[in-house]
Amino acid sequence: MLIDDLRAARLSAGWSRVSLAQRVGVDPQTIKRLEKGVGSMSTLTSVMAVLDFRLAGLGPGRTLHEQLRASRRRRSISLDGLAAKTGLSRTTVASLEQGGGSVASLLRLLAVLAPKARRRARERTYWGQGDREDRDARFTPPEFLASIYAAFGNIDLDPCGHVLSPVVARRRILLSENGDGLVENWAGRLAFVNPPFSELLVWLRRAHDQWQRGHVQTVVCLVPVRTDSHLFHETLSVDADIFLLRGRVRFLDSRGKRQGTPFSLMLLTFGATESQRDRYAGLVLGIWLARRSVPAVAASMLRRRDAEPRPFDNSTIGPPLIYP
Ligand SMILES: C[S@@+](CC[C@H](N)C(=O)[O-])C[C@H]1O[C@@H](n2cnc3c(N)ncnc32)[C@H](O)[C@@H]1O
Repeated sequence: MLIDDLRAARLSAGWSRVSLAQRVGVDPQTIKRLEKGVGSMSTLTSVMAVLDFRLAGLGPGRTLHEQLRASRRRRSISLDGLAAKTGLSRTTVASLEQGGGSVASLLRLLAVLAPKARRRARERTYWGQGDREDRDARFTPPEFLASIYAAFGNIDLDPCGHVLSPVVARRRILLSENGDGLVENWAGRLAFVNPPFSELLVWLRRAHDQWQRGHVQTVVCLVPVRTDSHLFHETLSVDADIFLLRGRVRFLDSRGKRQGTPFSLMLLTFGATESQRDRYAGLVLGIWLARRSVPAVAASMLRRRDAEPRPFDNSTIGPPLIYP
């Protein structure tokens, strides 16, 4: 699967083996061999970087070998356990997790650890100049956060934090400290989630799950508006209250530069109270698609018409934007 996808990625980039080899700085024979599943992990990762090729279906990480380690840990398998399951030696598994070893060993490992791992679809929308990791490291600007603190209160948890992010939270889960917000339990009154946009689905599922379990009272997510998604219609449309932001947020990148999103954004909240929502609408321009308790008479009419028991109230439009 990986090898087929790799070849397809080269062809869809319109590159011959020779031109890919030149870009990677290897011999064309090396690319030919790689496309037959023969070669080293280090060549493979160089080719993946040039093709902007990442695998979905593995744990988080900046590189393939970090993703392998995260996947094993996520499934609570020891090095010895994985060696036994794959028929590889413990040393080979450890070496793969450090970026060494051969492609043949990697394929055996993937067949056990992540048999469905596939090339991650590229973001459909242009977002940033850098690689995926760079695109996912966009930080919420302080002036945007000011209205979050003012309306929802202090943030107890940022489950996908970053040392360079201006988010002020009592607890931040940091990848750089081996934290994993998709594994560690969330806790507290308010979680603020500006997730990696390339992994929206998994983060929104996580947010919904942690809120549903009562681990966190209110979750506020800052995410692109994708109301056509399967997830949105199945789960989020039932429990989420949504604030459609008018105007775009200018995020900060790791160099402190500003960048506006080329797509619309919304706050997607679980468990936000009516007064929190009202306060937010008083600070930021946009429209709440929020469920409100329905007056008794209206509720009985709604029941008679078999309509949604908690209809949207989209009448709340606040004063001008406070973010640029
Ligand atoms: C869009 S940035 C937002 C950072 C910060 N929450 C903010 O609002 O400024 C998303 C961050 O999630 C982090 N991240 C990605 N996967 C993660 C994981 N599994 N656990 C914790 N953090 C993760 C990345 O390091 C990235 O910096």
